[in-house]
Amino acid sequence: MQNYERVKSDPVSAQLYTQRKPRKHQFEMQMVSEAFQMLPATEVKTVLDAPCGVGRLSLWLAQKGVNVTAVDLGESAVQLTNALLRDQKFKETAESQDIFNMRFEDGEFDASVCFRLLHHFQDSSDQQALIAELCRVSSQYVVISYFSSYSVTSLRRRLRKAVTGREVKQNPISLSQLKDLFAANEFRLFGTVKRSGFLHSLQLAVFERRSKT
Ligand SMILES: C[S@@+](CC[C@H](N)C(=O)[O-])C[C@H]1O[C@@H](n2cnc3c(N)ncnc32)[C@H](O)[C@@H]1O
Repeated sequence: MQNYERVKSDPVSAQLYTQRKPRKHQFEMQMVSEAFQMLPATEVKTVLDAPCGVGRLSLWLAQKGVNVTAVDLGESAVQLTNALLRDQKFKETAESQDIFNMRFEDGEFDASVCFRLLHHFQDSSDQQALIAELCRVSSQYVVISYFSSYSVTSLRRRLRKAVTGREVKQNPISLSQLKDLFAANEFRLFGTVKRSGFLHSLQLAVFERRSKT
């Protein structure tokens, strides 16, 4: 059973997401940019942005000339993404879909990007299911963010949990655990965006299909 309630899909959360701190937003978009720079542009023409949230990655990808498909469980997120794309005169649209059970063919996209979702899931069965679905629809690459297990913030949250018992909402995972989850779906590590895992919780990795078509 997926842990939906932990990842907010309501209108208020979607609206708040449009107001992220500019520095944080720019830092994150720089990471996304570095990840996509690793990929051969000739091989990556179609990209799935899941979940798209309020559309910042979808817009960035569309501006790069990529044919992007955007999905999110939240209707408000989908509406905001559509408005953003439409305002910028892009033909791409977002639709409401559950990332754990997407209505796409196997290998439908050259690549998929899943930014700021995995760390919301604590159960390894949810993590496995999410990664399996991303791998299923991606013929070549999956770009995925995760939270470093040994960042200052992760260590502080673990300490707080030990002291106060208060639940930690962000679930870190090590790169080697992530590699294992992808290996189970015939993907291997292609590269990582270099950021200190000690200083920064958010990390970004790129996986490639072992037998690319
Ligand atoms: C933290 S936001 C990240 C959005 C986007 N990737 C970004 O970085 O701007 C997480 C998003 O996941 C969506 N979400 C949560 N569970 C989902 C599911 N099962 N299927 C699709 N989207 C989901 C939420 O609606 C929310 O918009």
